Amino acid sequence: MTVDEILLKTRALLQAAGVENAALDARLLVREGASLSDAEMIAGAQTPLSREVIDKIEKMSARRAVGEPVSRILGGREFWGLAFKVTPDTLDPRPDTETLVAAALKRAREMGDKALRILDLGTGSGCVLISLLSELPHATGIGVDINAGAVAVSCENALAHGVAGRADFKVGSWFEAIRGEAPFDLVVSNPPYIPRANIESLAVDVKNHDPILALSGGETGLEAYKIILKDLKKHLVCGGYALFEIGKGQEKDLARLVEDSALTLCDSYADLGGILRVVEMYYGEN
Ligand SMILES: C[S@@+](CC[C@H](N)C(=O)[O-])C[C@H]1O[C@@H](n2cnc3c(N)ncnc32)[C@H](O)[C@@H]1O
Repeated sequence: MTVDEILLKTRALLQAAGVENAALDARLLVREGASLSDAEMIAGAQTPLSREVIDKIEKMSARRAVGEPVSRILGGREFWGLAFKVTPDTLDPRPDTETLVAAALKRAREMGDKALRILDLGTGSGCVLISLLSELPHATGIGVDINAGAVAVSCENALAHGVAGRADFKVGSWFEAIRGEAPFDLVVSNPPYIPRANIESLAVDVKNHDPILALSGGETGLEAYKIILKDLKKHLVCGGYALFEIGKGQEKDLARLVEDSALTLCDSYADLGGILRVVEMYYGEN
């Protein structure tokens, strides 16, 4: 079978299994299985593949067909143009979360090219903090996660992207993990925000493969925000900013929670699908 033939066969298998982005996923699996670059896939479209390579691709396609995400099968995912290791302990980084990185980066640049201190609450694979540090050469940061397995992965990702000297990762629950740390200039967070009752109706890729700790935001979906907002001001410098990713339609509830904290909502950002995805708040004099 040639590259083109296995590509077609894989795509048909994934389409028949109801995989949403069957063509893209087929390309990613064949590219990995045959160890080819995108350019080699095009140039070598008629090249016959060995039985061993075909077996490998077929095994990966069978896993995808029953709902395992491509990132889990490949052990990695691209985010903000960087390759991140992911495991069953980490949320599969989503393109929507790049909105959080872009908004935090805009704020960081407006704050000046100084040695900003950044805190990332619920760091998972470390994708948000590491992406920010890769763009801000003078910044340092701490990533916190309650899941020790995720923290191990975030440390590996920081090393892989050359920011380990400016990033520290700690295991613990929200601010408990950073007791004694000086306040931060920027706090970013993509906490779990799905209401508990909605988890069962999520796509198989999500509910069976993303860690429940990364998904469930308690009964209302807002539990993590409530806990974080209660103490946020103690961990921000005066003049500091916090940016949260939120779920679809959570902005009004979030605005109410921010009103009860000593912070001021100052901006919000939509993702590429037009859904309001990031809220930004300010701590200091108005
Ligand atoms: C939605 S995921 C976000 C992961 C990563 N920041 C991203 O955007 O891909 C939420 C993360 O919060 C972590 N988490 C859940 N409860 C936590 C808690 N009480 N304290 C710290 N982290 C927590 C989860 O383990 C998970 O890694």
